[in-house]
Amino acid sequence: MANQAPVAWVTGGTGGIGTAICRSLADAGYLVVAGYHNPEKAKTWLASQQADGYNNIALSGVDLADHQACLQGAQQIIEEHGPISVLVNCAGITRDGTMKKMSYEQWHEVIDTNLNSVFNTCRSVIETMLEHGYGRIINISSINGRKGQFGQVNYAAAKAGMHGLTMSLAQETATKGITVNTVSPGYIATDMIMNIPEKVREAIRETIPVKRYGTPEEIGRLVTFLADKESGFITGANIDINGGQFMG
Ligand SMILES: NC(=O)c1ccc[n+]([C@@H]2O[C@H](COP(=O)([O-])OP(=O)(O)OC[C@H]3O[C@@H](n4cnc5c(N)ncnc54)[C@H](OP(=O)(O)O)[C@@H]3O)[C@@H](O)[C@H]2O)c1
Repeated sequence: MANQAPVAWVTGGTGGIGTAICRSLADAGYLVVAGYHNPEKAKTWLASQQADGYNNIALSGVDLADHQACLQGAQQIIEEHGPISVLVNCAGITRDGTMKKMSYEQWHEVIDTNLNSVFNTCRSVIETMLEHGYGRIINISSINGRKGQFGQVNYAAAKAGMHGLTMSLAQETATKGITVNTVSPGYIATDMIMNIPEKVREAIRETIPVKRYGTPEEIGRLVTFLADKESGFITGANIDINGGQFMG
């Protein structure tokens, strides 16, 4: 039987935060399509979700920096599973370095993967959302897009740019049943953070008012709340989820 559940496309779905978002949306009854970059890792990832009883998660491996590939990828998701109701832009990378040392490639790779990708996915789903008069777009930015960060001109620029897109698209779609919001996590206990030496992690933790790292599940809960059809009065917002580390 064809899928009857609303469809949520989560780019970077196989990552640390993405996994929790996929599971939270799946628990809420969505058919979740998780985006990935590394096909080998994605296969193992899907098997482990299924082993945990998540049979309403599928995969889509689209190069997000490639505009045509994104258009085709979205079309394929729609044909296979139905119209996309929820888009979560969670794919992201870092290529850190001070301005003095940053290469043009480091700049471009981050802008392509973290920001141009958001234009590509939004452009890919917006027509179908407008046609159906409904949609939820949630862009996963970062505390560092809010306050800047030493060694991250590329990452901070991409993440700040994301929210500019959010606010503009929110205005364009406000009367069309579509909401667009940004979520800006602080330090979340993913592999990326847990691989930092313990001493450095302790020092970072001390700078967080709640004195702990966030969990991927906390991001999943917030995204699922914003994705809900009852959350229609929240649009164009940036929601900080950072344990009080930055209050802008
Ligand atoms: N972790 C934190 O503390 C933190 C804090 C603030 C904001 N964030 C943001 O939250 C998001 C998720 O972070 P995370 O820690 O969960 O990262 P992660 O574990 O490294 O996951 C990144 C995800 O993005 C995918 N990806 C990378 N490059 C891609 C490309 N070119 N095309 C398609 N997919 C690509 C990866 O796919 P593969 O695994 O297949 O390569 C993976 O699914 C990112 O946008 C990050 O900037 C994270």
